[in-house]
Parts: sequence; C-alpha cells; structure tokens
Amino acid sequence: MRRSLSRLRTVRHILWGVILLAGVGLGGFELWHRTRPDPNPTAQEMASSIVANFTLSTHTGATASDATYRGRWLLVFFGFTHCPDVCPTGLATIAQVMDELGPEGEAVQPLFISIDPERDTPEAMAEFVSAFHPRIVGLTGATEAVAAAAKNFRVYYERVEDASSPNGYTMEHTTSIYLIDPEGRFVKPYSYSATSEDIADSLRRKLKGKGQI
Ligand code: NI
Repeated sequence: MRRSLSRLRTVRHILWGVILLAGVGLGGFELWHRTRPDPNPTAQEMASSIVANFTLSTHTGATASDATYRGRWLLVFFGFTHCPDVCPTGLATIAQVMDELGPEGEAVQPLFISIDPERDTPEAMAEFVSAFHPRIVGLTGATEAVAAAAKNFRVYYERVEDASSPNGYTMEHTTSIYLIDPEGRFVKPYSYSATSEDIADSLRRKLKGKGQI
C-alpha cells in the first residue's frame, strides 16, 4: 500500500514536471514568436505607416527618386539579384503582368529595389532586371540610401551568413509587391506568389478609375 502510494507520488511528480516543462516550452515559443519580426505586415499596418519615398540610382546609373515617377502607378518589389527563388518568382510575375497589360500598362512602372547594395551594383541590377522585362527598372544605391528606402516602405531585410551562398551570405527580406498610386501614396500589397492575372485585373480596375481593387 505504502509502496504504491509512493509510486503514485513519483508519477504525480513526473507529471507535474512534464506540465511545467511544456509550459516553459510554450512560453518560450510564444516569446520567440512575438519578438520575431514579421516580414510581411498586414495591409492596414502598411497603409497607416508607409511613406513611399526613396532616392537611389537606376540600373543605367541615373539618379531617381519617388518624384521621378509621379503620375505613374508603381509596382515596387524589394529584393536582391543573388536571391535563389523569391525574387525571380516575383519578377517573373511582374513581367507577365506587364505583358498582359500591354499598352494599358503604359502608366504602370515596375521598380525592383535592391536590399543588397554590397553586391548589387547598377551593372548587376541591369543584367538581372533585363532578364525579366525591359520595362522593369532596377534601383540600388549606397547602404544608407537603401536602408532609408526600406525604412520608408517598412520593408524588413537582414543579412544571413550562409557558406553555400556567393560571398558567404544571403538576404532575408519582405516579399510583398507594393502598389503606389500616381500621387505617390501606398495603395496595397500583392503577394509575390499572387497570379499575374489577379494583379493585372486589379491594376486594370485601378487604371480605369474604379475604386475597387
Ligand atoms: Ni529575394
């Protein structure tokens, strides 16, 4: 009797230990989850805080700012030329959108802004964007200018050491495609994995002045 009681106690102790450990584990996960930066904030968070300002260099070496493109709808995508998948996918989608819009897309300017100025020279950007579509303009610049642009767009990016990548590092970054209106105001984000049909339809409605996007 006594022995089974003490065994019961031992079992109870073990159970409490398991519950305690699970609690600590969950708390730790929750803390990690909350402190981890969200690479893609919600549309509402974006609309209230994004200022679509930048001053950078185009892939042909010209200085360009947000004011340069006033009067046009902008599709802005941040990334880097060494990106293995997300950036090529996003740019291929943007290229398809431009093809689908055809002459209707004259008022749309796609911009690809580098968050890896160390490797992305204007020459590297020229080679990269021209592989996707002649209408895409690549923008890069000094580290501070790129950081300022990313901050204004609330874009998250971070260098990650990775021995298997060129120069031993890769970049994590926000993957949304930003729509900016002709007055330079943020309108909405598209997912880089959205279909070109969906983005083209949304843009057509905007270009025709119909409020719904
Ligand atoms: Ni990328």
